[in-house]
Amino acid sequence: MTHFKNLFSSVEIGKIVIKNRIMITAHQTNHVKDGIPTSDMAAYHAARAKGGAGLIVLEAAAVHPSGMLTTQTIAGYDHRVIPAYSLVAKEVHRYGTKVFSQLFHGGREVVSSDYRNAAWAPSAEPSLRFSVMPKPMSLDEINQVIDGFALSAKLAKESGLDGVEICCSHGYLPAQFWSGLTNHRKDHYGGSFENRMRFIVEVMERVWKSVGEDFTVGIRMSADEKTMDGLGVKDSVEIVKYLVDRVRLDFINVTSGDSSTYAGSTHIAPASPMAHGYNAPYAFKIRMAGAVPVFVGSRVLDPAEAERIVSTGQADIVGMTRATIVDPEMPNKAINGELQTITACLGCNQACIGHYHKGLAIGCVQNPMAGNEEKLRPLVQRSRTGKRVVVIGAGPAGLQAAVTASDLGHQVTLIDQTNAIGGLLRIMRRAPMRREVAETMLDNYTRKLSQSNVNVQLGQRATRHEIGKLEADVVICAAGARPYLPHVEGIDHPRLMLVDELFGANPRTVGRRVLVFDYFGDWPGVEAAIFLAEKGHDVTLVSARLYIGEEVHQYLRNEYLKKLYTLKVTLLPHFDFGGITQERVILRNLFTHEAEQIGDWDTIVLSMGRVPNTELYEEVKGSAPVVRQIGDCLAPRTLEEATFEGMMAALEI
Ligand SMILES: Cc1cc2nc3c(=O)[nH]c(=O)nc-3n(C[C@H](O)[C@H](O)[C@H](O)COP(=O)(O)O)c2cc1C
Ligand code: SF4
Repeated sequence: MTHFKNLFSSVEIGKIVIKNRIMITAHQTNHVKDGIPTSDMAAYHAARAKGGAGLIVLEAAAVHPSGMLTTQTIAGYDHRVIPAYSLVAKEVHRYGTKVFSQLFHGGREVVSSDYRNAAWAPSAEPSLRFSVMPKPMSLDEINQVIDGFALSAKLAKESGLDGVEICCSHGYLPAQFWSGLTNHRKDHYGGSFENRMRFIVEVMERVWKSVGEDFTVGIRMSADEKTMDGLGVKDSVEIVKYLVDRVRLDFINVTSGDSSTYAGSTHIAPASPMAHGYNAPYAFKIRMAGAVPVFVGSRVLDPAEAERIVSTGQADIVGMTRATIVDPEMPNKAINGELQTITACLGCNQACIGHYHKGLAIGCVQNPMAGNEEKLRPLVQRSRTGKRVVVIGAGPAGLQAAVTASDLGHQVTLIDQTNAIGGLLRIMRRAPMRREVAETMLDNYTRKLSQSNVNVQLGQRATRHEIGKLEADVVICAAGARPYLPHVEGIDHPRLMLVDELFGANPRTVGRRVLVFDYFGDWPGVEAAIFLAEKGHDVTLVSARLYIGEEVHQYLRNEYLKKLYTLKVTLLPHFDFGGITQERVILRNLFTHEAEQIGDWDTIVLSMGRVPNTELYEEVKGSAPVVRQIGDCLAPRTLEEATFEGMMAALEI
């Protein structure tokens, strides 16, 4: 029986038929070398095609050297892309999935480049987020870029791809032309609405001329730029009406947001706790205005949500990008009704777009195989004999090690001294804006454990003696970490509290005026400040970082800052916690080294990082032929390192 009838019905888009309504929207993998996709990219997309997605749009490919977003952007205008694209097409087509290229020019949006070339844009209007002041394009440069779109579309077609999506979303070049905020030109590409639309109309016309009628071409656009003074849905409706009257558009892929501003950029890949599927109502308006097939995505996390969007006519195809980064097999599982086996995306952004912004290859906190498909294939496929494996600690590292080892056929015992699984996730679930991340991850692991053969022993301390009795071949120690306490005066003050206690089961009473000290710029300090301010406390968030939330992915940080300002939390970066002397809190400026004292305070909450719990590892060392240490008990880091080391520890058995 086919579940989700609408979602798994085929649909005609332009000149092709797509087998179902699940698409993977364009997303950078950074599997690109010298502008050309590597075989890792083909393996990455092959895994997702195998998993059942109907359509994959490959990551942004620059149409001209002036349009590169970073040094790892695909050079879509370079003939050398043909063999690389052909390989991707061959791999993806094996599973009946269609594949498009996304044709891109960032205009003033340049994240990084080897040498800072002059950015090209309609007018000299700066991009705040990337600190770029572009040069106004000459008519010759405009012509070169339009030619670049046409050439790149032709190369995509020659490579065997099924279509192209012209990226007009997020304030990239076509949108910079059509928006009066960024286009102040006095020539026939600026001024009136018709003149501002001329660029995209000419792009479409020249693309059609170069690929011929027998191809599929559409656009991606932000229905609402979600930025101060930016374009809203009404403007986008006018743009669509104008375009469909003049050029053939096979589809419109609707999103929201704008790359040039902090708040607008959040919507490029909205993080938890932002609402699920919030672009769908915009897609409906665009669908009504354009009367062409419409795609929509952003935080559509499960097949039931996607089915609802299709069945209510809000869109024809639903983007489920991070949902398939984390679980490439999600479409197949959905069609077979195996919903309990789907690993849900956390919306954490840490290893998918977080990696992109760090210049690293794509990954996933919940799926350490993502982006490593080709590299880890020999290790995954090697033959194994079942071993007795004991995992100590049921936090993310231990859970990942246990379920992976069990999937590989080992006999696994998972021991934790507390009465529940989750480790640090149980603290995180009390943090107001991390709740969804923690609960989704807990739910994913709870289901995985219940579907596995792992013998779970909770409420039990793993002593050397007990481990010895289990006669393990391999012991994996994932005993976690505990809060770090700085070596300063007053650290035992009764009105000082650790963030773990604040988010624990029985926190002490907190007074009116609270100082939260955050050392690493990660989520616990910011969340503590939000948690207390929401309860009406008068909160100052003191951070030893350059800016608040420095370690958090930028799109989540934007949401944090919005919340902190709304709650009127006082923000004080650049100060270290110097202890408590005679009831006065000492703040030390990181740059001048001058100390300041605060006398008016009731409670201090400290979030200063963690130190590894190495005692258990030292105790069990030597109790089995192989004893390994992973995750925070090796060195406290983040969820990503925990799950990656958990998976690798299991794969290497
Ligand atoms: C790692 C990553 C890279 C992205 N790169 C692009 C891109 O090249 N072009 C684009 O239009 N959108 C890009 N996006 C945005 C996605 O296409 C998509 O809109 C976003 O992930 C929200 O959809 P989702 O909630 O289904 O993941 C990227 C997103 C991610 C996570
Ligand atoms: S890293 Fe986080 S947000 Fe990105 S796909 Fe994985 S679980 Fe989802």
